[in-house]
Amino acid sequence: MSFINVIDRRGEHRALEAVEGWRLMEILRDYRVGIEGVCGGACDCATCHVVIDEAWAGKLVPPRDDELDKLDELPLIEKTSRLSCQIIWSDELDGLTLTLPQEF
Ligand code: FES
Repeated sequence: MSFINVIDRRGEHRALEAVEGWRLMEILRDYRVGIEGVCGGACDCATCHVVIDEAWAGKLVPPRDDELDKLDELPLIEKTSRLSCQIIWSDELDGLTLTLPQEF
């Protein structure tokens, strides 16, 4: 069992139980925290944008070029911004903290 620490758009903290092997986007979407995942994980919509806590960002598999290209289309990103559909959850990520960015 592992958990994701989510800081939502109101600044409230939630600990969500995560399922190994699922996309991070799928977990966040199913908890209805405000992540849509419109394209279903095809790296084509950026509605799964999250900002990873700096302490965790380097522990993730680096983004591919198509993820970086899609992030570049957003009006505002942080240096640790990721598309959560491109991150496969592993129990090794237990305790990862992320923030949901404000919507535009
Ligand atoms: S769900 Fe569409 S880019 Fe992630």
